[in-house]
Amino acid sequence: MSEDKLIRMDMGTMQGVGHESKGDRPILCLGIESSCDETSAAIVDSDRNILSHIIYSQIPEHQKYGGVVPELAARAHILAIDEVIKKTLSGAGKTLEDIDVIAATAGPGLIGGVLIGWMAATGIAQSTGKPLVAVNHLEGHALVPRLHAASASGADGVTNVDFPYLLMLASGGHCQILLVRGVGKYEMIGQTLDDSAGEAFDKVAKMLGLGYPGGPVVDKRAALGNPKAFKFPRPLCDKPGCDFSFSGIKTAARTFLSRISAPYSDEFINDFCASFQAAVVDCIIDRLGNAFKDSRVISAAPKTLVVAGGVAKNSAVRAGMEKLAATYGVVFAAPPMNLCTDNGAMIAWAGIENYKQGKIVTQPVAPRPRWPLTEL
Ligand code: KG4
Ligand code: ZN
Repeated sequence: MSEDKLIRMDMGTMQGVGHESKGDRPILCLGIESSCDETSAAIVDSDRNILSHIIYSQIPEHQKYGGVVPELAARAHILAIDEVIKKTLSGAGKTLEDIDVIAATAGPGLIGGVLIGWMAATGIAQSTGKPLVAVNHLEGHALVPRLHAASASGADGVTNVDFPYLLMLASGGHCQILLVRGVGKYEMIGQTLDDSAGEAFDKVAKMLGLGYPGGPVVDKRAALGNPKAFKFPRPLCDKPGCDFSFSGIKTAARTFLSRISAPYSDEFINDFCASFQAAVVDCIIDRLGNAFKDSRVISAAPKTLVVAGGVAKNSAVRAGMEKLAATYGVVFAAPPMNLCTDNGAMIAWAGIENYKQGKIVTQPVAPRPRWPLTEL
């Protein structure tokens, strides 16, 4: 296929006429996610109800390799996708006829997996004549707090997250501070210069022999340890700007561990995880503090500070951000745990938000391994 054709295919999503609801009932969207190691689908309505949600995690298949193997992921998506979609429909007591709009991740991500979910969605849309939305995976993470969000403790119930908001998007592949002005309107305030925060968690866990994914286990071990036991660097902290750098923290971990031979004691692992996590959290809080002083953020005056992506599950990240939000007089909001890591509900919700604005596919779309939010 010529480069010219690929580029034209990428332009397939168009602004058209928006839809608020389907007469007297909410819009029903089937969303499909397959960009990494979760095959997931959900049916979500425009009144913010999740009617059904299936997440098939491939983690056990990748665990023995210490990370996601793209070819194995693609094969696992092929084997799972039909059943995940069928179970999602039956779980909601719906058929494809009842669905108003189909949405699927069209990038960024591991291209083999993205292709499988996208082709499934395209097939359903073409055979049923339903509208199709090409969802940017990062936009799924970025908008899901508008579907469901609560404070760090979750005790306050659901928080409404209106535009504009300041977003810390921290996943396995991305680490960005974004000013979210609306659907498709993202302004980059800061981003990582090297690793993402999730990657740092995964790599440090691997060094400690804690398995994959690293975030959840480091989080648990950190709760039992002393955050002051090891002196990790805080790269870029106290410097101007909102960019991140995590590779120095990772290198420090490797240097510490090269001096001590395994097996490590439980106490050592707990202290190491607590000290590493404290460094990551300090960096996130320092950079977000600068973001609140950024002239674009000051003039937009966001009322909510939001965290999203897999690292949003981290208890210390949530607690630190909730405190920071209080300092700047804004509300803190985070999605519930199951909507932080990759899931179909966030894709269905982003599908609804885009569909309301008339952003449906009108020509073939080529899935993209890279697709920055600022290119929407
Ligand atoms: O958003 P996500 O599911 O996948 C990507 O789009 O990348 O994020 C996965 C990342 C992994 O790096 C994982 O270690 C991290 O989120 N993660 C956590 C926690 N739970 C998952 N990181 C820190 N603390 C956690 N509790
Ligand atoms: Zn993700």
